Amino acid sequence: MSRPRILVTRRWPEAVERRLCALFDTTLNLDDHRLSADELRAALRDCDAVLPTVSDRLDAAVLAVDAPRARILANYGVGYSHIDVDAARARGLVVTNTPGVLTDCTADLALTLMLMVARRAGEGEREVRAGQWGGWRPTHLVGTRLSGKTLGIVGMGRIGIAVARRAQHGFGMRVVYFNRSPVAAEQLAGLQATACERVEDVLVQADFISLHCPGGGANRHLIDAARLAAMQPHAFLINTARGDVVDEAALVDALRQDRLAGAGLDVFEAEPQIHPGLLALENVVLLPHLGSATRETREAMGMRVVDNLVAFFDGRRPPDQVS
Ligand code: 8YV
Repeated sequence: MSRPRILVTRRWPEAVERRLCALFDTTLNLDDHRLSADELRAALRDCDAVLPTVSDRLDAAVLAVDAPRARILANYGVGYSHIDVDAARARGLVVTNTPGVLTDCTADLALTLMLMVARRAGEGEREVRAGQWGGWRPTHLVGTRLSGKTLGIVGMGRIGIAVARRAQHGFGMRVVYFNRSPVAAEQLAGLQATACERVEDVLVQADFISLHCPGGGANRHLIDAARLAAMQPHAFLINTARGDVVDEAALVDALRQDRLAGAGLDVFEAEPQIHPGLLALENVVLLPHLGSATRETREAMGMRVVDNLVAFFDGRRPPDQVS
């Protein structure tokens, strides 16, 4: 029997590409360009599986190809709001993701952003590199400490809990959170975290707010102008979830008017484009979607995709089937 034909939309870690090529009739994206809608449609038409990333927009219009050969979208990443899962289901496409393997690295990056924005690390680095550091003085680039502060988490899933553990055990932070559904007590073992009934209840009391909910759907602009106004003026907003969870224009307004102390952002509404207002602000740390960007995690994500594909083509349910 011929091997399933698969298309990988971006370059993946070498070890994973090697494993994919050994198992499947694999087309790699050798120059790593972002695929156009037409290229994605061609892949859906010609391949048994398409392996997308967050940079591929698989909306209803792209998925509406005539006579698709594809039967599975094996996503590289835990978040899949770039895929219209209802349209995929209607076309008989299975969708899988890669949960778990990127929890620690994404949580580490949320803490990186919290520390960078609170301790003004980006400002300091820009100053040093510009040759503008005039030497030590007591009032120079004075920031805010994390220790003893209140961290508010919106979305208390695996990553939210991992951030809470780091913040509480590493920095002695008090943790409050909002989650759509109750979080099982065993998942919170060893953590003192107070559940809030509404997002607003978290926002009004937190010194740092970190977002860990999925993007898309009802979460689009979950943090809008009204919710930004509910935050304390000394609070910092951290986003390693999805850009569309925050109304970026409203965030720029709030920061410009000093209604918020700062923001640490790894994700953006129109990636890779950044709102020009954000680029002009000093009290904002901007990273290029690095949440899972460690060698160990990126390899583990790829191997997880391989496991999903192997199960699927063996006629078993893939371990990470989301739709
Ligand atoms: C990934 C992420 O790098 O997994 C996710 O949801 O946001 C990132 O860590 C990206 O999605 C790859 O497709």
